[in-house]
Amino acid sequence: MNTILVTGGAGFIGSNFVHYLIRETDLNAVVLDKLTYAGNLASLKGLPSNRMTFMQGDIADATLLDDLLPKVDAVVHYAAESHNDNSLHDPRPFVDTNLIGTYTLIEAARKYDVRFHHISTDEVYGDLELDDPQRFTETTPYNPSSPYSSTKAGSDLLVRAWVRSFGLRATISNCSNNYGPYQHVEKFIPRQITNVMDSVRPRLYGQGLNVRDWIHANDHSSAVLTILERGQLGETYLIGADGEQNNKTVIESILEIMGEPAEAYDHVVDRPGHDLRYAIDSTKLRTDLGWLPQYSDFRAGLEATVQWYRDNEPWWRPQKAAAEAKYQMTGQ
Ligand code: NAD
Ligand code: DAU
Repeated sequence: MNTILVTGGAGFIGSNFVHYLIRETDLNAVVLDKLTYAGNLASLKGLPSNRMTFMQGDIADATLLDDLLPKVDAVVHYAAESHNDNSLHDPRPFVDTNLIGTYTLIEAARKYDVRFHHISTDEVYGDLELDDPQRFTETTPYNPSSPYSSTKAGSDLLVRAWVRSFGLRATISNCSNNYGPYQHVEKFIPRQITNVMDSVRPRLYGQGLNVRDWIHANDHSSAVLTILERGQLGETYLIGADGEQNNKTVIESILEIMGEPAEAYDHVVDRPGHDLRYAIDSTKLRTDLGWLPQYSDFRAGLEATVQWYRDNEPWWRPQKAAAEAKYQMTGQ
């Protein structure tokens, strides 16, 4: 392998992966990104132009893919509409990008016989009770709840069918909630950090007992690279770092880290269909491929993330007002 096409490489996790690839390997990256509201070229600032090239475009553009795919050795497919709340108000772009876009991409990967890695989410498995001793594994049945997660589930199934029916050289990974630098301010952790910076009280959906299994974006990147290099074709790997926290605890930690009283937040209307708990068992990835997460201290990772948003206001400020205007419409 020499050159990797990274779709959605101007988004949160995709840009973290491109930085990781350039820092930790000799591989080169071609980023294909439509630059929707969630894409930000500033997230790729500082990367060497002889190692990373950027192409603005849609993954559903088959003509563009005919030009790009013959020039790369593998595709890592991050591009997606990624935000559950948006999918509840306007599902159409989720169908277009997550389903039609992924379909167009795997057809191109099949045509040019290019190695393909599909990035997906633990949300395809639905949710768990708070006291369920089981966590998600690769054999948990699919049971998605939202328009977002159902289109991601559909995209996984497309990839699986292309592996079986056409011999597509593909792997799939399903990861839990990521945090770290370059995350859009619509998402939970950056929204609350930037609210506190703006002297606005953080917003907790419902009672805040919902649990997410947090993993640092760098650990997600190292796992994806491990699967790309050593994963078995046709296999699915779950990625998680044993980071379960409920939302109330996360919001209180952010307030403490930022020097505010831990109770200085508001409860707001809950998300319709809000998944209660996600939890990943990543034994397969650890045992079969020898992967281990490096960021095991969530509190330390959160402190570094708070510092990143404090240091990088010019990166997030242009998106903040539009993100909050969307939430105002639902009272969240
Ligand atoms: P994001 O919204 O921050 O970034 C998505 C990127 O895709 C943006 O740069 C956007 O411009 C681009 N994009 C959207 N539609 C496109 C199209 N049609 N063609 C080309 N580019 C397009 O998302 P993220 O949080 O970085 O998530 C990336 C991937 O990881 C998604 O597939 C998501 O389902 C998956 N995932 C995310 C998480 C998480 O916690 N954020 C966890 C597990 C899996
Ligand atoms: O599990 C992986 C998924 O994690 C990814 O597939 C998605 O792309 C990603 O967006 C994320 O989905 P969530 O819906 O879990 O993330 P979000 O940041 O939107 O919300 C995290 C939790 O915080 C969730 O329980 C809702 C809650 N929340 C969110 C916001 C924005 C709040 O309580 N207040 C808020 O203001």
